[in-house]
Order: sequence, then structure tokens, then C-alpha cells
Amino acid sequence: MAANASRQGGSKPTKPGQSNAGPMEPLERYRPIIDDFEAFIGACERPLGTAVRVNTIKTSVDRALETLTDEGVDYEQADWNPRVLRLTTDSPGSTWASFHGLTHGQEEVSAVPPVVLDPQPGERVWDCCAAPGGKATQLAALMDDEGTVVANDSNLGRLSALRFNAERLGATSLAVTNQDARNYSLAPFDFETFDRTLVDAPCSCEGTIRKNPDALDEWSLSHVTSVAGIQKGILRRAVQATREGGTIVYSTCTFAPEENEAVLQHVLEREPCRIVDFDLDLAYAPGITEWDGDSFDPSLTNAARIYPHHNDTGGFFVAKLEVTAG
Ligand SMILES: C[S@@+](CC[C@H](N)C(=O)[O-])C[C@H]1O[C@@H](n2cnc3c(N)ncnc32)[C@H](O)[C@@H]1O
Repeated sequence: MAANASRQGGSKPTKPGQSNAGPMEPLERYRPIIDDFEAFIGACERPLGTAVRVNTIKTSVDRALETLTDEGVDYEQADWNPRVLRLTTDSPGSTWASFHGLTHGQEEVSAVPPVVLDPQPGERVWDCCAAPGGKATQLAALMDDEGTVVANDSNLGRLSALRFNAERLGATSLAVTNQDARNYSLAPFDFETFDRTLVDAPCSCEGTIRKNPDALDEWSLSHVTSVAGIQKGILRRAVQATREGGTIVYSTCTFAPEENEAVLQHVLEREPCRIVDFDLDLAYAPGITEWDGDSFDPSLTNAARIYPHHNDTGGFFVAKLEVTAG
């Protein structure tokens, strides 16, 4: 880690074209914590293929596969989740299956957090950062569209996409709210806590570099620090709004420990919760317990750091929490 002290402490990487720094230069700070760093950078430089999730509210996996075959679209089912399909087409949103809500374009690794949350039919589930709704509609599908998914987002402009996706995919158990999750009010509801909560937090999006080659252009440590403050506030409110014994999944599409393990450590020290283990049939590295002079609780190794070179996907961080007695 010492070799990268300047990167960790720096405010902004040099932009490509301004020096000999490449577009992946902000990721150099992760060299000490990533196995086979060259394979990691190589994967980050490769464009990401397209993927869809079968919407089991409207169809079965077999029927969706038949529909794609009839349409001449080639697919490959993900080993870890037969509802996730890797497609050969570049425009998965233009297929007949997508138009009719049988599939939803969703990056493969983005389908992981709802699976880890494991919501059950009839439960009350809060997706506190939900727009444009890929995971909220996946939660509804995992619950057989029975129960309540409260899909919230603070950005009013992004709610239309959330509503459109919920309607197209037929998610009738989904209610949309527009609040800042950090001080979310349950006053509109006739219940006081959720059974499960997904915190798919706003983040610096480093793990989306394969889909969005500009993702690192405006990288700065001050942005990482500032978004980490928002993440801490959202996750604290999520613990407060989830019943004792309930489950929370915290996820980001970024690698920065400041936005991942450090956020969880902050909340572990202030709210009644613990980090728990989970099964996931994908390759990943465990969460880390040391970064930039800070130490984190050993339970952080239960979290999953999914790197692009592990499964040829985008990057994601996923942790599962249980709310304990206050
Ligand atoms: C990673 S995106 C969510 C993606 C979404 N879960 C999905 O799967 O389609 C993060 C979202 O958090 C929202 N957000 C940012 N700050 C927030 C806050 N304080 N409260 C609620 N939502 C917030 C952003 O508007 C953005 O839509």
C-alpha cells in the first residue's frame, strides 16, 4: 500500500493526454489489494458484453429462451443464475422480448445484490436508491410480485424511468417514493419497519468502466470522500428503518474502500447491525480489513469484491447485514 500512498492521498489523477498517465490511472491505487492486477486492468479495458434478466413476473425462463431463439437472438445462460442471459445483440432493449417486458437489460453483476438480499413473497422491502429500477423490479420478481417493494429515489428526474420499467415489467407490488433516503419518513405507510432493505448506493462508479469508458475521467479523491458521506447517511437510515432480525444488502459499483468497507465500518460502530456471510456462486475476493492506515472489523471479509477479471463482468461490491437488538 505504501507504494501507492501518493495515489491514495492525491486529489485528482492526471487526465489522459495531459501526461503519460492512461485512462486506467485512477485504478492504480488498488494494485496492492487486487490479485493479478494486470488481468484486472486488461479486463477493465475490454468492452462489456450485453446481458438481460428474464422477468419472471411475465414469463418463465424457458419461454423467454424460446422467444429469443424465435427472434434469432443468441444467448448464453449465466452459470450462477439461469435468469441472467448474456446476449450477442448490442441492443437488448430493442428485442421483441424486451418490448413486451419478458426481459430487462441489466448488467450481469448488477443482478447480484437482489439475489443476496433474498426477499420472500409477502414481505415489505425497501429499495432506497432505486432508479431506474433494474434491481427494484428484480426484487418484485423474486417475491413473485407479492408483498410490497417501496422503490425510492431522491432524484425526481430519474423516477420516470423507474415508473416506465415497473409498468413494462408488470411489477404491481412496487410503490414509488421520492425522498432523500438519509432522513426517509415512513409516515405515509401503515407499518413502522421493513423486513429487508437494499442500499444500492450512489457511488463513484469505477466498476462501470467497461460499459462507460469515460467513468474515470472526472475521478477525484474528494468526490470519493463526499459520496462516502452520503452513503453513510443512507445506510444508517436503512438500519433504523429495518426490523430487528431483518436483512440489508449494501452494494456499490465501485472499488474504493472509502465507499465500501469504510462505510460499513462507520455504520457498524453507530447502529445495531452485524455483517453476515452469504453464498454466491461467482468468483470474488473478500472484503478487506485494512486500507490507507485504517483497520476494519474482521467480519468485513464476509463482503464480496467482484472484479471484472473474475467473471468477465463489471465490478461490484456487495455486503449483507443483519439488524441486531438495539
Ligand atoms: C446506483 S444508482 C441506483 C440504481 C438502481 N438501484 C438500479 O438498479 O436501477 C443510485 C441512485 O441513488 C440515488 N440517490 C442519490 N442520493 C440519494 C439519496 N440521498 N437518497 C435516495 N436516493 C439517492 C440516485 O439518484 C441514483 O438513482
